[in-house]
Amino acid sequence: MHCTLYFVVENYECSKPISLYRLEGVKSLRPYLYEKLTSYEEENIYPFHMPGHKRRIKNLIQNPYEIDITEIDGFDNLNDPQDIIKQSMEETAKFYGTKKTFYLVNGSTVGILSAITATCKRGDKILMARNCHKAVYNAVRLLELDPIYLPLTYIPERNMFGGIDEERLCEILKEEEGIKAVIITSPTYEGIVMHIERTKMWINPYKIPLIVDEAHGAHFPFYENFPQSAIKKGADIVIQSLHKTMPAFTQTALLHICTDQISEEKVQDSISIYQSSSPSYLLMAGIEYAIHYGIENKNSFREYEKLLDFYRKKIQGLKHISLLEKEELKQYGAYDFDPCKLVIFFQNTKLTGNEISDILLKQYGLQMEMSERDYVIAISTICDSKEGFDRLYYALEDLDRKIGMENGEDPSHKQEKIHVITDGQIKRYLPSEALQMKTKKCNLNEAKDAICGSYIYIYPPGIPILVPGEQIKQSDIALIESYLESGFYVKGITREEIHDIMSVSEQEQAKPIQCERRMAIISSAYDIMSVSEQEQEKPIQCEQSMENINSNKEESSAVTRICYSITVIEENDKKRERN
Ligand SMILES: Cc1ncc(COP(=O)(O)O)c(C=O)c1O
Repeated sequence: MHCTLYFVVENYECSKPISLYRLEGVKSLRPYLYEKLTSYEEENIYPFHMPGHKRRIKNLIQNPYEIDITEIDGFDNLNDPQDIIKQSMEETAKFYGTKKTFYLVNGSTVGILSAITATCKRGDKILMARNCHKAVYNAVRLLELDPIYLPLTYIPERNMFGGIDEERLCEILKEEEGIKAVIITSPTYEGIVMHIERTKMWINPYKIPLIVDEAHGAHFPFYENFPQSAIKKGADIVIQSLHKTMPAFTQTALLHICTDQISEEKVQDSISIYQSSSPSYLLMAGIEYAIHYGIENKNSFREYEKLLDFYRKKIQGLKHISLLEKEELKQYGAYDFDPCKLVIFFQNTKLTGNEISDILLKQYGLQMEMSERDYVIAISTICDSKEGFDRLYYALEDLDRKIGMENGEDPSHKQEKIHVITDGQIKRYLPSEALQMKTKKCNLNEAKDAICGSYIYIYPPGIPILVPGEQIKQSDIALIESYLESGFYVKGITREEIHDIMSVSEQEQAKPIQCERRMAIISSAYDIMSVSEQEQEKPIQCEQSMENINSNKEESSAVTRICYSITVIEENDKKRERN
């Protein structure tokens, strides 16, 4: 398909490529995204990721421009709903059994920011699980909140977070006065559903509202065999991303107020701070469509459940590959598990989740949702096809065979387990305080005991290894290093390429001499100086590649080392230590 998405100035009904709008000094604007999106469709890569519609909804909207309007007469206003939007949201609330349901067109992100803004004042304490989405951390930063971390259990066999540590929850509630909101993620990215009812029971005497980030559970209310939604389990506010697991456009989400403990006005006011003042009617209509689809397609959910069950069993029959299952989670404080999440573990191989995800994409044309060190996650929804599940199974079966051949059943190929859960963080400053302090870069392996000045995390899922204001422990450095070694992109770490020049004789002795340090800009020419030239202060222009560097310098060769630095707070800007 060829692109017709240039700036159109005339003949908008013309089906052929149309004239380009030529801005002064700009010859044309290539529609990179449109080209890539349309050609991607032809690549036959199967989406085991969000959005939940899996690009398979046909004939809903022929031409999106035809129904794309703004708040004109008769169409109400999402930021002050009085008419059809109000009516639509009221009917939706009736279906969910909530006090009030808000449509969101900027994702659960806005729902989370709004829920916290409506329940906490500047500087308040919030009790939050460490595995909360970055939107929660952003709310903490914006409102200068004091985050108290709610411990979760650890599943050693799977190297991941489990359910809420209820004993610690009770202790924290007794110890910490003035907590203004509790926020937890349920289900987690991995599909682990928390004990909402019990959590609510523990916090109820303190009259603290419970906010549940159910971004990954928007499908729960539509089918009785899915885990029960937090809406029915006593949560005060529940936020769901329709786009993740339902046939809905990206960015569509819902915020439900479920109890009288929450002020509807405050929530509405907060939403209007964070949400676009020109909310898309396409997205709003998409919200209605997704809910309608869910209500009207009970049979499809039944069919989907059968398909899922069949393929889960088949995958579980493989030798080196296993799926996370509900039964193993109970002992770790989980309440339930979302079977739609295929959390795929690979045993007896040195390959990391990242590498497996790459293989699945490049060799089998399967795009996963995310990868961790020890597993990959495939999101399945009601819109998946039998063909898609078949392709996944045959790819896994093939990999399973290859893993067997790779190691000849040698158990030494078992991956070394690196504890991926950070624990016992030492908070020296509030994140909002730390983010305003003077920072400097520090070599990662020299950062022990320094105070972190930025968020360090892998995305997805975006759970921070370090939060600004936390003291860096040796175990944090080890965890970051293990992610880097496994090829993960760690956000918040600066990667530098450093050239060391070795003289020939020293090269023989394998002793690098630190020469000139500079950031490498791939495919540009470097000025590199050998030690003697450096003394004479005569830079020599070298060409792009290492070979050229070597041929220009008969006596020297260059070695590239990668160095990682971390942002830490400068000593002299440390103000008031908290602990
Ligand atoms: C647990 C969790 N909460 C919230 C969000 C934010 O959702 P949205 O993309 O709809 O803004 C995400 C996004 O991935 C998430 O994983």
